[in-house]
Amino acid sequence: MKKADLITQLDTAIKRAHAPYSQFHVGAVITDENGNNHAGCNVENAAYPSGCCAEQSAVSNMIVNGGKKIKDIYIKSSSDMACPPCGNCRQIISEFSDQETTIHMLDGKNQVTSCTLEQLLPSKFNADWLKTE
Ligand code: THU
Repeated sequence: MKKADLITQLDTAIKRAHAPYSQFHVGAVITDENGNNHAGCNVENAAYPSGCCAEQSAVSNMIVNGGKKIKDIYIKSSSDMACPPCGNCRQIISEFSDQETTIHMLDGKNQVTSCTLEQLLPSKFNADWLKTE
């Protein structure tokens, strides 16, 4: 995807975020293993813990549209600073990631900082721990 199209998708997601309580709007776009893109935004709730982060919403969109693996995830917020995924989102991203998965954080000027999930979530809990043999 061209950077300009990516930024349009992120900015649209940020605009559509439902964040009346925090006023902190977040957009996320996932590129999956087939090159398809899936956007998400945060969706807050009057019962605060029932809210959902942008990354989680993008993962749900990827899954319902048939994507299986996160190749890249781009995150941008209404803040000037680049927004890293929260701890819960790191775990959710890890379920659909591999060594190649890259997390890209855009600041208000669309400068990109990139890192691997391994850097953000070392020693992660995953399906390997649930094997019984
Ligand atoms: N938020 C996200 O959408 N992604 C993150 O990784 C950090 C936090 C949302 C959750 C809540 O709606 C608002 O930002 C303030 O925490």
